[in-house]
Amino acid sequence: MTRLLEQQVRFNYSPKLVPDTEKRKVRNMSFIICDTSGVSQQLYLDRLKALMPEREVQIWPEEPNQPETVKYALVWKPPAQLFETYKNIKAVFNLGAGVDALLEDQMVPEHLPIIRLIDPLLDRGMIEYVTWAVLRYHRLLHLYEGFQTQKQWTPLAATDARKTRVGILGLGQLGQGCADMLCRLNLQVMGWSRSPKDIAGVATYHGETGLNEMLAQSDILVCLLPLTSQTCGMLNADLYAKLPKGAKVINVARGPHLIVEDTLAALESGQLEHVTLDVFPTEPLTADSPLWHHPKVTVTPHIASQTVPDSAIETIVANVQRLEAGKEPQGLVQRDHGY
Ligand code: GLV
Repeated sequence: MTRLLEQQVRFNYSPKLVPDTEKRKVRNMSFIICDTSGVSQQLYLDRLKALMPEREVQIWPEEPNQPETVKYALVWKPPAQLFETYKNIKAVFNLGAGVDALLEDQMVPEHLPIIRLIDPLLDRGMIEYVTWAVLRYHRLLHLYEGFQTQKQWTPLAATDARKTRVGILGLGQLGQGCADMLCRLNLQVMGWSRSPKDIAGVATYHGETGLNEMLAQSDILVCLLPLTSQTCGMLNADLYAKLPKGAKVINVARGPHLIVEDTLAALESGQLEHVTLDVFPTEPLTADSPLWHHPKVTVTPHIASQTVPDSAIETIVANVQRLEAGKEPQGLVQRDHGY
């Protein structure tokens, strides 16, 4: 465990034993939940109260009650004001995988550990979506969908999974899960990451040269990178030019990874055959966006992998227990890496 974390988390509390003498201590380790998407706030609250009935749980932006007792923040895109109101927070748990919103403008005070959500159901959701999107391209279903609108009965030549090359940008928790599933479907799987990685069955690449090598072979490119200053705008005309002509791109990371104008131009020229986009620079996607009705674009509303409240809270509670036992939590963010 890092020294910083050791200093911040000096608890010696066993959640199973709550004698009266401990009650004050327990109150002093309560939670604030702030889910500005608003969708699951109550579900988070119910599950947390069920798993840790001895703790106080507050909801943002309700009137704070003894804000100094709050030690843990469970957040999704919180306002910076939260950290001014709850000054004694010791750890910030993100209610999703991507922490870019928390690292933006140094919103979370520098001394606080940020913990991203590593949850089996979040992995599963992403694996399902990416597998669907890749198989749709591999089996040419995006073309058959167009044929159906024309009442066109046109069987195309069979495709061979062993010859379909899929490049995955980003080999973190989600990227590795997707790579593993695609390997099991016999596709040719490649992956690129910041630092070298060794993954059974996957041809791995890193660095600038490695990136170009992988791009040159990617019939289907999946973006699962964290959004950082280095990766922002990476899906642009230069990168598309390095892909085989007629490649397909799937962006399930963050909207700002992709330059919309460059993508439309690459679809127009045929450099890209089709794209699947789950994330957008502005969300919700505005009604006037040309992406909505483009015949070579599939749009989904940022649902590739959605946090499942019960499972997320179970994961976070386990992490709180880890912290209170003096252990390093799973998913501790390295701020200098941006994820
Ligand atoms: C969703 O986008 C997440 O970061 O979990």
